[in-house]
Amino acid sequence: MENDDSNALFKVIPNGPLEVSGNFRVVNSKGKIIETDEIIYLCRCGGSANKPFCDDTHIRNRFSE
Ligand code: FES
Repeated sequence: MENDDSNALFKVIPNGPLEVSGNFRVVNSKGKIIETDEIIYLCRCGGSANKPFCDDTHIRNRFSE
């Protein structure tokens, strides 16, 4: 994968997902670029049914970090 001038910002949401904003791309496990919004939330709790994105399962499983 080529590298570009990315300036993505990664922000850890307490007890929740990782917020990503700025200039970024997400590539799935098959190497395909996933179309996303300008701000996305990546699951940190491991419970999302829509990985790598957060689906708010962290609230039900009381993820804490
Ligand atoms: S962090 Fe939200 S579902 Fe995992």
